[in-house]
Amino acid sequence: MSDFGNLIGLFGLSIILIKIDHSLPIPKHIAIIMDGNGRWAKKRFLPRSSGHRQGAKTVKEIVKAAKSFNIPVLTLYAFSTENWKRPPDEVSFLFDLLFNFIEKSFQEFIDGGVRLRVLGDISKFPPRLINEIERTVKESAANKDLQLNIALNYGARQEIILAFKKMAAAGITDPTQEDVSKFLYTHDQPDPDLLIRTSGERRISNFLLWQIAYSELYITDVLWPDFTKADLETAIAHFQKRQRRFGGL
Ligand code: FPP
Repeated sequence: MSDFGNLIGLFGLSIILIKIDHSLPIPKHIAIIMDGNGRWAKKRFLPRSSGHRQGAKTVKEIVKAAKSFNIPVLTLYAFSTENWKRPPDEVSFLFDLLFNFIEKSFQEFIDGGVRLRVLGDISKFPPRLINEIERTVKESAANKDLQLNIALNYGARQEIILAFKKMAAAGITDPTQEDVSKFLYTHDQPDPDLLIRTSGERRISNFLLWQIAYSELYITDVLWPDFTKADLETAIAHFQKRQRRFGGL
């Protein structure tokens, strides 16, 4: 990429789309903070729900894209523990969208080898949504192509506290880093090597705090509903251009 492209990249703008280099490693786990649905709708004088609906369409495209790029694990932050503070109408709209996504679109993904896992505590979700999620998790359990984690009622601090409680219950009194990792929702998965946040905010928002210790961060101004396969490819290509030293030289 040109210096100009690098400059643009520094400011988080993905005006210049760049391609994956197939001779270099690709991320084993991409995590995405899907942000900007509300702003997408506001720019168009539409209700926030339209932004979420468009955002759900982007979810479908990006799951397909991740699969086509052979990414082993994709984690999407769909509902945080803080999102309950939104107006009840918006919360129930998000639940309906999720239900429709899983009920109507997921079969195609299951047939295509996608495995679903939930990160978070969905016990307070509407029962029919819980049933649909649990059914899909079971039905897709043997799939191996793409592990799709959807973070739902998820908070990283809560996840870490839960891990420590589980370790105490298992009699682990002097935990190692490996012990902690083993008791997280992502216990058998590689840590994300690439974390993407859309819509330009530079925050982690209580997402995968333990797992992203060494992740490369990629922030783009593109709003989630506008995020495309080409934007995902650009993010992966940026990742490939960075040298990961893990604290070494
Ligand atoms: C952030 O945008 C987005 C969310 C809190 C919800 C994410 C939900 C979806 C992408 C759609 C449904 C999900 C699935 C998995 C089908 P925001 O509302 O905070 O946007 P703003 O910051 O511009 O207001």
